[in-house]
Amino acid sequence: MRFIDIIEKKKNKEELTDEEIQFFIDGVTDDSIEDYQIASLLMAIRLNGMTEHETAKLAEAMMHSGDVIDLSDIEGIKSDKHSTGGVGDKTSMALGAMVAACGLKLAKMSGRGLGHTGGTLDKLESIEGFNIALTEEEFKKQVNEIGLAIIGQTGDLVPADKKLYALRDVTATVDSIPLIASSIMSKKLASGSDTILLDVKYGEGAFMHTVEDARKLATAMISIGNKLGKNTMAMITDMNQPLGNTIGNALEVREAIETVKGEGPKDFTELCMCAGEIMLMQAGKAETKEEARAMLEEAVKSGKAYEKLEKMVEYQGGNVEQIRNTDLLPQAKHKTEMLAREEGYIENIHSKGLGIQAMKLGAGRAKKTDPINYAVGLEMNAKKGDYVKKGDLLCTVYHDEELTDEWIEDFYNTLSFTDKKVAPIPIVEEILK
Ligand code: URA
Repeated sequence: MRFIDIIEKKKNKEELTDEEIQFFIDGVTDDSIEDYQIASLLMAIRLNGMTEHETAKLAEAMMHSGDVIDLSDIEGIKSDKHSTGGVGDKTSMALGAMVAACGLKLAKMSGRGLGHTGGTLDKLESIEGFNIALTEEEFKKQVNEIGLAIIGQTGDLVPADKKLYALRDVTATVDSIPLIASSIMSKKLASGSDTILLDVKYGEGAFMHTVEDARKLATAMISIGNKLGKNTMAMITDMNQPLGNTIGNALEVREAIETVKGEGPKDFTELCMCAGEIMLMQAGKAETKEEARAMLEEAVKSGKAYEKLEKMVEYQGGNVEQIRNTDLLPQAKHKTEMLAREEGYIENIHSKGLGIQAMKLGAGRAKKTDPINYAVGLEMNAKKGDYVKKGDLLCTVYHDEELTDEWIEDFYNTLSFTDKKVAPIPIVEEILK
């Protein structure tokens, strides 16, 4: 087989065979195909797309490019969830504790944050001593014993994706649905769980800007999962404003704790409840949404969900006192209140802009090697559609360095006001299977 013939075929909008896709991924993995040829095929895929069958074969070949985790030592159905990433997304911590309290097994591998979006691992590491680097044995033991573990990637998972992603990043080929879908799903499939729930975000702060594009991505990922024998479902959720009220590592840990205790923000609580309903039904723990919701509400009310979160922190070596008393989590040196300069309904809250503002305070990384300040971030006091008067509190900023005039102006530019009522947006737009 000659790689140039494969490029030629995709250039001419033809469907690649399973053998050609396998040859491509083998060549990416063992470095036998030159980067410029890989980049050329990636652009042909970006421009001419792939069929459902090609996309599933690509994901399958990528999944087998490295280790595939075997979770069969863990009893029962293993569940996984994945978010395409957003601002203020602390779902894994809270949802994980809620579903584990209902008897689910969540063996979750998470990532770090980059740019305007945060990462679950960074958030968890704001808890002193929290170990995200368990061995595979420790990971499985913990999930067997308490139903929940969140760690960084173990083993050499999907090396083909690392190479392809790095090339896509510099060749303007990231925004391709078959490439995104196969990249995400190959990693989910290699992580070894039985059921997968995808939280596909849409909006200004997300990868996909419109509901239509989010739906296309979700459909492509569900098709891959189902073709490869995994019960896969997706929710399309709103990222036109930050999720919950907080942005920043320790602040988000605090909000996740409040949420598992039933004291969290409405939108974030609702997202966790909807996701939990789907996961409980996927794993056969509940027959209906109503039954699942009742189980989740009971887990929160009884304190069992909180206990699971505390147990996870204890098992992973974190300082449990910081969970019991969140005032012991890292605290910023200064708190500054940002007050409304005008009156009206909040028309837009630019989540990407707020994510960048939090990153500039030190809560996130502009490049992979940047350090993180766990204490800093934003706590919003306003949601889209709220009516605010001049002088009302919009946000509390937690910071170590003095805020510059430029930072303050940029903050105000993330909000826009109108004198007309603004219709609220549902947090969960639709559910797909
Ligand atoms: N996240 C991934 O893991 N891969 C992509 O291609 C895009 C987002």
